[in-house]
Order: sequence, then structure tokens, then C-alpha cells
Amino acid sequence: MAWSAAQYAKFEDERTRPARDLLAQVPDLPAGPAFDLGCGPGNSTELILARFPGSLLTGIDSDEDMLSAARTRLPDLRFERGDLAAWTPPAGSALFFANAVFQWLPEHVTLFERLILALAPGGTLAVQMPDNLDEPTHLLMEETAEEPAFAPAFAGRTIRRRSLPSPATYVERLTSKEVRVDVWHTVYYHQLVNANAIVEWVKGTGLRPYLDALPTTQRAGYLAAYAEKIRKAYPAMKNGRVLLRFPRLFIVATRDR
Ligand SMILES: C[S@@+](CC[C@H](N)C(=O)[O-])C[C@H]1O[C@@H](n2cnc3c(N)ncnc32)[C@H](O)[C@@H]1O
Repeated sequence: MAWSAAQYAKFEDERTRPARDLLAQVPDLPAGPAFDLGCGPGNSTELILARFPGSLLTGIDSDEDMLSAARTRLPDLRFERGDLAAWTPPAGSALFFANAVFQWLPEHVTLFERLILALAPGGTLAVQMPDNLDEPTHLLMEETAEEPAFAPAFAGRTIRRRSLPSPATYVERLTSKEVRVDVWHTVYYHQLVNANAIVEWVKGTGLRPYLDALPTTQRAGYLAAYAEKIRKAYPAMKNGRVLLRFPRLFIVATRDR
């Protein structure tokens, strides 16, 4: 899936808030390299650097457009291209920080187990993932894809991400004698100017695979049909704005010192 740093940046402030909330729960780091996994345009990397200015920080992402935006933003840091499904975490790492990336990797619990094994004593794996597949934003992507005009383009393809495992799964799989695990949900209510802003928001993330699956001639039609449903599902409040409800799951796993 191709990403666009410019589209993603449209709601950067709102998208960065969970990264700030996640970072607030990361304890002080031991010595060792730190990584921002799925660093995107460097917004989460910038936060990590501000909190841990002396750290040996590297951003990893699979998308060149995102990496180029990150390098422009933080020219003194290292940003490397890598696919997290196959990435080998260096042993003795102090931090693996991953804001809004592992929801795209269905086997992520196994990857978390591997990351935890690579932590130095006192090191932390900190993860945030959207848990929003049952929100109207995402249900309506599917509903629009099932309309007769668009269904043939999606036939035989599963675009919907796999739902996240239960919080208990993360606690049970990741906790051990030397690893403490904290899991929680936060539901954000973003006040956006109108329903079209919700469409613009998801165009930077969850809607991309649906648009990518369609022939270019059908994309505008799909977008218009989806936007119409979104306007009904997210009515304007008295002040004209809409509320985007957005549940997110957080995991912080720390190795004892
Ligand atoms: C939603 S953005 C998150 C950006 C940033 N971390 C933040 O806090 O806003 C997700 C990023 O993960 C990257 N990504 C998606 N799948 C990936 C994979 N398998 N390996 C590495 N990066 C991936 C995308 O290119 C994108 O930049």
C-alpha cells in the first residue's frame, strides 16, 4: 500500500496525541539503541527525541515517501527502510516504540514476543494501535465496497484489516517472570470541522487500501458514495462540527532491570 506523507500530515496534531499518551507511560531508558517502528513522517520520532535527547534513535518505515518526509524533518537522525514483518531487532535495545503501525501486521503478537526478547534489562516495548474496525468510519468502507457498482472490483479480496486480539491475549502472551505488561484502551473524540474532514482523515490511512483496489475510473464514485454515508453517520453538532469517536489500544511491556 502506498502512503502519502502530505495526506497523513493533514491531521498530524490529532494523530500524534496517542503517541504522546503512549510515551508518557514509558519509563526512563537503559543504555542501548532506540527505535521508532513505522516512524511515518517523523512526528512520533520527534517526540521520542524530545523525551530522550541523548538516545541512539533510529526510525524504521517501509515507505519511501514517509522516510523522505522524516529525513527532512529530522536531518540528524537515522531513518532506514524496513518491513517490520521481516525486521530483525538488534539485541540489547532500550526502546521499541510503535505508534499506529502494528494493526497492519496480522501476526504482530509473535513479532512483539521477538521484540521483547531483544530488549535490554529495563528496556520497553511501547505500542499503540487503532481499535476502530467496528466504528462507522470502517464499517461504511465495507458497506460501500459491497454496493453493486463496486463489488466486482473487490470480489475475492479481503481488504478489511484483521480485528485486534483481546487485551487478555496480549497480557497472557507477553507477560513473563521478567516482563511486566500494561494494556489499556483510550477512546478519543476528535472535533472535526465537518463530515468531509472525516473522509480526509481516513484517506490518509484506513481508506487507502480500498481506493488502491479500485480501478482509477471508479475511485471518485466510491469516495462520493462513502462520503454520503459518513455525512449521515456523523451528524453535525450545534456548533456545526462533528465528533469522530476513535478507540485505540495501548500496550507497554517493560523488562525488569
Ligand atoms: C499511521 S502511520 C504512523 C506514523 C507515526 N508513527 C505516527 O505516530 O503518527 C503508519 C506508518 O507505518 C508504516 N508501515 C506500514 N506497514 C509497515 C511495515 N510492514 N513495516 C514498516 N513500516 C510500515 C507506513 O509506511 C506508515 O508510515
